[in-house]
Amino acid sequence: MKLLLLGSGGREHALAWKIAQSPKIETLYIAPGNAGTSSTGINVPIQADDFNGIKAFVLKNEIDMVVVGPEVPLVEGITDYLKNDPQLKDVSVIGPSKQGAQMEGSKEFAKHFTNRHHIPTAKYQAFNNQTLKEGLAFLETLQPPYVLKADGLAAGKGVLILPTLEEAKKELKEMLGGMFGNASSTVVIEEFLSGIECSVFVLTDGKHYKILPEAKDYKRIGEHDTGLNTGGMGSVSPVPFADKDWMKKVEDRIIRPTVEGLTEEGIDYKGFIFFGLINVKGEPMVIEYNVRMGDPETETVMLRIKSDLVDLLEGVAKGNLDTKEMEIDDRSAVCVMLVSGGYPQHYDKGYEITGLDNIKESIVFHAGTALKNGKVVTSGGRVLAVSSYGKNKEEALAQSFASAKKINFEKKYFRSDIGADL
Ligand code: AMP
Ligand code: GLY
Repeated sequence: MKLLLLGSGGREHALAWKIAQSPKIETLYIAPGNAGTSSTGINVPIQADDFNGIKAFVLKNEIDMVVVGPEVPLVEGITDYLKNDPQLKDVSVIGPSKQGAQMEGSKEFAKHFTNRHHIPTAKYQAFNNQTLKEGLAFLETLQPPYVLKADGLAAGKGVLILPTLEEAKKELKEMLGGMFGNASSTVVIEEFLSGIECSVFVLTDGKHYKILPEAKDYKRIGEHDTGLNTGGMGSVSPVPFADKDWMKKVEDRIIRPTVEGLTEEGIDYKGFIFFGLINVKGEPMVIEYNVRMGDPETETVMLRIKSDLVDLLEGVAKGNLDTKEMEIDDRSAVCVMLVSGGYPQHYDKGYEITGLDNIKESIVFHAGTALKNGKVVTSGGRVLAVSSYGKNKEEALAQSFASAKKINFEKKYFRSDIGADL
């Protein structure tokens, strides 16, 4: 099979690493990919949201399957664009339709969906410029802290958690006034939930589903969860509190109603569903849906899938995922993200990365790297994901930290407390 993977981050390198291991793969292309993906397949200089460019490439290279990594092309409708083209009708696309992608593209859509299907989530209401007054009044009915969410995609920055009513009211006005452009023309205000978060992933063909290993990610830049939010500083899988009983609740109350809800509503959904969950006194609740894999969760989840991912993806495309086997590795997997000093604010790029060849005991996924005159250099805030296996998380973490120390670039930073809270 000839497979085209769209995207360029650590998530895509981890997906490419796993896909390339499949005996079913004849050629793997990654568009645009990064310095790391070029060791798993062929990088193609086409951006993941360049629909015309992707279509032309798929036709010319007789691609059998397109796997969409990031959310932006999905929310913009890449799946419908490809599937509705008569020339591409035999090409499989892994990623939901534009309507399905609203589960991530619109927080209001996702919240209404959870209500329609009685899926546990925080109490909420949505407001726009015309209903600002009602929004301010709704805030007064809630207890601090206050959670304000831009309805649309805001590159992970659209959620504000405010300690006082005064700040919440001020931010609501600013968000509706265009703080995140169109993304915040509607704002969801919701009740604050207190608990530990966990990311649960499923692969679905729209009818059947397989539950992938769960993971926890570490969002803040500073140790002990302090400082600004980032794209994710590391991840751990499995998550100790996500035991059999808890996962049964997740499946019965959240996963099954979600997949059945999508089917009932006639929403075409073939791909990954990422359930951002929170454990509130032993009860799982939905914080958010994403319509793709998580980053940096993929950098541990892929290590724990023993089965052939491409075989599973074929099941998704053909609608017979129920006939496929999904075997999971019981070892632990962790990932420690090496970032550029200054991230998530200003940082410099272009620093040479050394020591990569010395890493034998970890798998290093590239997130923000580029090749320059034959050398690997930094090209983003999150630079490398250092993933390792261990018989438990302590062993895996010790390995990732040891490897992290052997890799060098100017102003390298990583959190040395990943997994310490579990
Ligand atoms: P989201 O983009 O919806 O995942 O929100 C980003 C982060 O904000 C989440 O990962 C949580 O840490 C936090 N968050 C979102 N909604 C809530 C909530 N209702 N209660 C507490 N924390 C929340
Ligand atoms: N790790 C969170 C995300 O991918 O959105």
